[in-house]
Amino acid sequence: MRKNIVAGNWKMNKTIDEAVDLISDLKNLIDQEAELKSQVIVAPPFVNLPGVSKVIEDSKMHLSAQNCASEESGAYTGEVSAKMLKSINCEYVIIGHSERRAYYGEGDAMLSRKVDFALQSGLKVIFCLGERLLEREKGEHFKVIENQLKNTIFMLNEVDFANVILAYEPVWAIGTGVTASPGQAQEIHAYIRELITKNFNEQIANATTILYGGSCKPSNAKEIFANADVDGGLIGGASLNAEDFIAIIQSF
Ligand code: 13P
Repeated sequence: MRKNIVAGNWKMNKTIDEAVDLISDLKNLIDQEAELKSQVIVAPPFVNLPGVSKVIEDSKMHLSAQNCASEESGAYTGEVSAKMLKSINCEYVIIGHSERRAYYGEGDAMLSRKVDFALQSGLKVIFCLGERLLEREKGEHFKVIENQLKNTIFMLNEVDFANVILAYEPVWAIGTGVTASPGQAQEIHAYIRELITKNFNEQIANATTILYGGSCKPSNAKEIFANADVDGGLIGGASLNAEDFIAIIQSF
């Protein structure tokens, strides 16, 4: 079901004490909000998930992991399975983030396996996609987006696809301070919805939540979220500060 969402991807930041401080500050701020106009998700590093889960168990916030294994279980040293995440009250998992694609060589085949295990385990998937700077400069961004969808989540059936949220994160905007203009974000989000219509149907396209990510901050969130096809944000740096993150949440 399409909804407004603001999700914080903490990436590889915060020790457990720092994580508990951050989430406690955020909980206090959120508790003061009379009405939240979006669902709020936080995605701390694996080791901080149980500690953060405890703080938010009776709050309006939802828990996500940043990654999961591409195998079900077994001899995969250092990996964490989707089933394990589900067992510690995780509701969501981020899959396909450009940092995983670029630094850990995660391609379509591996991402599809991760998506399958996540959905089978009862997790919802926040699936990231987006073009690199060179691809945009060459005018290839539409094709890149189409391929990223075609070889992964467009292979899902309609029931499984309903448990997927998309996050358009142009790589050139992540952590760079450069944000896609509201027009650029809207253009790609509308294009993604068009592709969903072609692959599934219009009703499913209109029911899909599509988030924007990449240098989203209190000063630009309102303008970005105001676009018809932008349903919220996946926030990196600005989610590490409770005041900034709540300001983005209040941008709806
Ligand atoms: P920044 O908000 O730090 O640019 O990161 C965006 C991101 O990668 C969220 O997943």
